[in-house]
Amino acid sequence: MGKRGVFFKGISDIESDTSAVSGATSRGATSSGADSSREIINEALANISPMLSDETQKEAMKIIHYTINNVKMGKVVDDKEVKKLIKNMVEEIIANQDAMLNLIKIKSHDEYTFSHSVNVCMIATLIGARQQIPVDTLEELAFGAMLQDLGKIRVSDEILFKLGRLNEKEIEEIRKHSLYSLQILSENNRIGELPKKIAYQHHERWHGQGYPQRISGENIELLARITAVADVYDALTTDRPYRKKFLPYDAVRLIVSRADDEFYADTVRSFVESVSIYPLGSLVRLNTEEIGMIIKINRKAIVRPTIRILFDSSSNIMEEPINIDLIKDRERYVICAIDEEEVYQMHTDQTKETKE
Ligand SMILES: [Fe+2]
Repeated sequence: MGKRGVFFKGISDIESDTSAVSGATSRGATSSGADSSREIINEALANISPMLSDETQKEAMKIIHYTINNVKMGKVVDDKEVKKLIKNMVEEIIANQDAMLNLIKIKSHDEYTFSHSVNVCMIATLIGARQQIPVDTLEELAFGAMLQDLGKIRVSDEILFKLGRLNEKEIEEIRKHSLYSLQILSENNRIGELPKKIAYQHHERWHGQGYPQRISGENIELLARITAVADVYDALTTDRPYRKKFLPYDAVRLIVSRADDEFYADTVRSFVESVSIYPLGSLVRLNTEEIGMIIKINRKAIVRPTIRILFDSSSNIMEEPINIDLIKDRERYVICAIDEEEVYQMHTDQTKETKE
């Protein structure tokens, strides 16, 4: 348990040496509504290079739809199509490890299974790449991570999409999806052992309280330990019918708090090294009350990223946003992560006030 919390060590030390608080530096800032704030946030996002191209993401969504439909119709997994896609994904992720982890955002809850498969594949591959796992093994990891939940098609929709509390029998049924995933992948003898292990073991936990076998520690395949972290991070940062999504910062913290307990500490370390605690593209509030977007992670001091200031200290939109490197600017520091919805809401309220 000794490694727990190590990733956040030093945050308060760094923050405590910032004494003076600088004023906001907006140049001709103006008030505006939620649409303008959405616009400036989207503009800033468009300037950060994404980990996976739009084209590859669309292809990934197409292939996962195709794979799920095939299996629903009783066909085996078309491993050749999936492998072709995986090859591209792995190549792009290795080349863009420092780019923004552009996870697919769902527009409706029905899309969750599809986007979740692609997102888990992206995150797991990124962690694996950070751990310098060889490319052929990374491809096995990406393949298994993409198809880990395939077995859910054998669980009834009634249970899968139930909004209320699940009873014990229903929980037991849902938990069978990892076994079903293993069975589906085993129907194609060209699919290797590693993806099958990932599918079967992605809900096992380091402390031995996962399922289906309740195995622990190194008895769990390393690639399944990686997939577990990826699976939980994407699930936490997505809105679900029964709960609001976590901010990326809060999801990272939660996973870190469970390192060496639920999750393998080395995997958690590589995960944090990859996405950082304030992931690229996320919004933060500074001590100056300015709001900005993380545009560059400073690996030597992850609490001091480079930020593009989008809103000044009075929450006005910056007409000309400025970039601040918190390594150089010692007067500013991040005080919290902030949800973009909160920013939109703030500007909707502001517009109302102006009209009244
Ligand atoms: Fe699962």
